[in-house]
Amino acid sequence: MIKLPFIDSALQKEFNKKGYVVLPFFTESEVALLQSKYDSLDHDLNLPFESTSFLEDVETKKECDLFVSSIFEPKINTVFEHYKPLGTSFLTKRVGAFSSMPIHQDWTVVDESAYASITCWVPLVDTTIQNGAFQVIDGSHLFSDALRGPSLPVAFEGQDLSGFLKTIPLKKGEAILFNHALIHASHSNQSEQDRVAVTFGLTHEEASLLMYYQKDNLVEQWQMPDHMFLEYPKVRFEPKMGTFSKSFEYVVPQLTYETVKNRVFEIRKNHPMKSLFKNPDHQQFFEKNGYLLLPALQNEDVLALKNLYHSLGIKDEKGYGFHVGMDHKDKNIVAEMSEVIAKIALPRIEQELEDVQLFTSSFVVKEPHPQGVVPPHQDWSFVENEEDYCSVTCWIPLQDVNMDNGCMGLLKGSNHFFNNHRPSPSPQVGTPLKKHMFTIFPFLELLEMKAGDALFFNNKTIHASPPNITEETRLAIGLGFTQKEAPLRHYYLKPGTTDTLLKYTITPDFFMKYDNAQLSEMYEKGESIEGYGEPEEVPYLFEDLSAEAFTQMIQNSENAYNATLVSRMASLFNYNMDGSKQEEQVEDEVSETNEVVAQPQTLPFWKIYTPLNIIREIKLRISKN
Ligand SMILES: [Fe+2]
Ligand SMILES: [Fe+2]
Repeated sequence: MIKLPFIDSALQKEFNKKGYVVLPFFTESEVALLQSKYDSLDHDLNLPFESTSFLEDVETKKECDLFVSSIFEPKINTVFEHYKPLGTSFLTKRVGAFSSMPIHQDWTVVDESAYASITCWVPLVDTTIQNGAFQVIDGSHLFSDALRGPSLPVAFEGQDLSGFLKTIPLKKGEAILFNHALIHASHSNQSEQDRVAVTFGLTHEEASLLMYYQKDNLVEQWQMPDHMFLEYPKVRFEPKMGTFSKSFEYVVPQLTYETVKNRVFEIRKNHPMKSLFKNPDHQQFFEKNGYLLLPALQNEDVLALKNLYHSLGIKDEKGYGFHVGMDHKDKNIVAEMSEVIAKIALPRIEQELEDVQLFTSSFVVKEPHPQGVVPPHQDWSFVENEEDYCSVTCWIPLQDVNMDNGCMGLLKGSNHFFNNHRPSPSPQVGTPLKKHMFTIFPFLELLEMKAGDALFFNNKTIHASPPNITEETRLAIGLGFTQKEAPLRHYYLKPGTTDTLLKYTITPDFFMKYDNAQLSEMYEKGESIEGYGEPEEVPYLFEDLSAEAFTQMIQNSENAYNATLVSRMASLFNYNMDGSKQEEQVEDEVSETNEVVAQPQTLPFWKIYTPLNIIREIKLRISKN
């Protein structure tokens, strides 16, 4: 059991689990005092990153440390007991793209099997992704027990872990208290003003300070005095103080991308999200499986919604068979539609829900078409942080639905599969699903539902629907919502790139102005989204799984092979169950597959995955086997 100096056991527990905690810390006047001290110091404006620990002048440093400690200590004493201080510093991140702090862990300075060493980091300005906010990988202090020091190789050398970082925006005076073993980083400062933060290091009073240093093939352990950080220049590159205690053979254990991914995946799976459903059993089912079925609308609501649909005259303008009211080009009709749908449906579903905010409401229509497949996909990302928040679609059919008229099919538990952002626009943006349409389809669980029943699904959950082979239009409504306090975002593939996203802070009116078709055209023209401020650029990474690995993941989440669906699809697309072709001229058509693969990426999503292309894809696979 690691000894920690926290007074509050709940805080200690949280720190143990996540590797950090965030707390309100300094008042306005305390921040002002620290700022005036900072202003009184000499600064080297040429340094992109400045730390007062680098100062050679020990006297100035001591004097500064004394002052800063006097402001910290009354606060630190309310959070910790049995601690000892390790020193303070001001950290300045100057303006510029070069000022990001690369992903790292701080040195090992105590026996971490028994104690933790901690930094309390407090910014003197509000920190955001624009000006150098702190970033962490949750729980990463437990990923590796590798020793860390100035000359030791890094356990995750050469692995790009940046995709797992989470930004912790802090208000001026707020603190993040983190374990030195936590993997962390900070954004570059793209603002107009220096980002200054102040830190206070501490550990348990019983822990003696250490330092590890690699020399030739051996690692040396040094016993260090408690004031080692006050004389940081003496230890910055190698220990020039302290007492040598031993040296030993040591190879830094590797921390691979794969291990980090699996650990992060496990943590996220077990992360309790802020409840969406009032009933804890509902919440638990939803978190585990990524969906939930509940009764929602009354008969009169269903009737009123059907009447609304017919009165608005929404049509399948592009002729894809499947269309969404939000994509209608007359945005006045979209606004009216959204308002009325919300007015009728929201009061019904709200009875089941905690406080939520609605950001879209629309008709979701599937016209009769024997090959009108909606291929497996995940919906866009709608919120800032999908560990704490979750965006949901509530899908309510307005007639009974089954396999014949295009009910919904989904993969149970697929809300846990991937953690990448889900940006617009299709078809330009790559996704981890794109090449796995045929891996996924046979495992979809089809959900037969009564008119007015609601299917709530996490926007991460992989879903699809088979063709509507009846004579009737399949009408449904879809409501998009999330927790009330969740910050809404939209990720848009940066035109001209395939691996960079523009992240916009949005409000629900965004969906009245922009739809996928428009965003897709804009991408081709190299246009950005207007009216939602300067976007943040974020890297776009996603996993590229093999079909075998994907199938394994699907089956591990208790999804069974759906023979009924496969046989239906085979008959609709003129295939035998074994995948062989029923029609003639297989040869000719196989040759067309090359065209499909080489399709220019300018076609809308639904065009790329038209039934004809799906059939061609099947042929391509057969021809390859
Ligand atoms: Fe650090
Ligand atoms: Fe969807």
